Amino acid sequence: METVLGIESSCDETAAALVTNGRAILAQRIASQDDAHRPYGGVVPEIAARAHAERLAPLIEATLGDAGMTLDDVDAIAATAGPGLIGGVMVGLVTGKALAMASGKPLIAINHLEGHALSPRLADETLEFPYLLLLVSGGHCQVLLVEGVGQYRRLATTIDDALGEAFDKTAKMLGLGYPGGPAVERLAAQGDASLVQLPRPLVGSSEPHFSFAGLKSAVLRAKQSGQHADADIAAAFQQAAVDCVIDRTRRAIESVAGVGALVVAGGVAANRAIRTALEELGAENAMRFVAPPLYLCTDNAAMIAWAGVERLGQSDPLAFAARPRWPLDAAAEPVRGAGVKA
Ligand code: KG4
Ligand code: ZN
Repeated sequence: METVLGIESSCDETAAALVTNGRAILAQRIASQDDAHRPYGGVVPEIAARAHAERLAPLIEATLGDAGMTLDDVDAIAATAGPGLIGGVMVGLVTGKALAMASGKPLIAINHLEGHALSPRLADETLEFPYLLLLVSGGHCQVLLVEGVGQYRRLATTIDDALGEAFDKTAKMLGLGYPGGPAVERLAAQGDASLVQLPRPLVGSSEPHFSFAGLKSAVLRAKQSGQHADADIAAAFQQAAVDCVIDRTRRAIESVAGVGALVVAGGVAANRAIRTALEELGAENAMRFVAPPLYLCTDNAAMIAWAGVERLGQSDPLAFAARPRWPLDAAAEPVRGAGVKA
């Protein structure tokens, strides 16, 4: 059995985890910075970097302690090396390098998006390549054909906002605070989506991509009109978002043949309305639907450790540079506005 130590610090969660090649999560700890960023209504990069620098080393020590292990028992160190907020990424990557150097164990530099993309395989040992992945987080909204480890073909991405960003901005407009996604989902449950008319950008379009900017502006106009209850706006926003996601994902499914599984990952995969609609879309297309448990959807280090397990045998140089931008599919054409955050 081999064990990988995973380190994650690319946004606002400081996290460490120990995962084996037998898919056991021996220990994992996450220190959320929500309280530090809440007064600003979003993640402040400088505050995030400082918090990672304070918390990461003791968190790793505690995670090893939880598993009753030391660095000697670890076979590789996997650290997120991008994409994300550069200060935080550097804290995690440099910590991983220092531990690798001190222990003589290999360093594996992980793309945070690959962590999300492979996380469903940690939760479900029967999930084989290839699969169609909807990756929806605070910084990304992509459909990828996952053909193997390191083999990702981007079929669609957003031309403006990421889906999680649209949830977060809607939350801000409705005064729901940060982080916004779960708050919008809770309020939407009390509203009537049919009472507010909102657009569904790019739905039915022959181009493959996503767009949420127009939806966001329409939410702002609905709020400013003073004619709608916040719960109805939240419900209408969530319904429009679901309709966009389903239409665009359906188009992606139609563009590839013979893929047996539809998989969702990333923070927004925690949303029940989106999960339910995707499950139906999968069933319609005779595809198995796989959604990782919620704790693997939002940012965590178990997915980074698992990506390290998938890459066991490889190692990266101690000179590996942190990458603020690092697309999974390097061959895909850049699209206006596609996010930096992961
Ligand atoms: O993957 P993640 O934890 O961090 C990034 O790498 O971005 O995703 C965070 C995003 C945030 O925008 C958050 O509002 C959204 O996921 N999110 C949700 C829900 N839970 C988290 N969006 C909608 N509904 C939820 N239940
Ligand atoms: Zn993420």
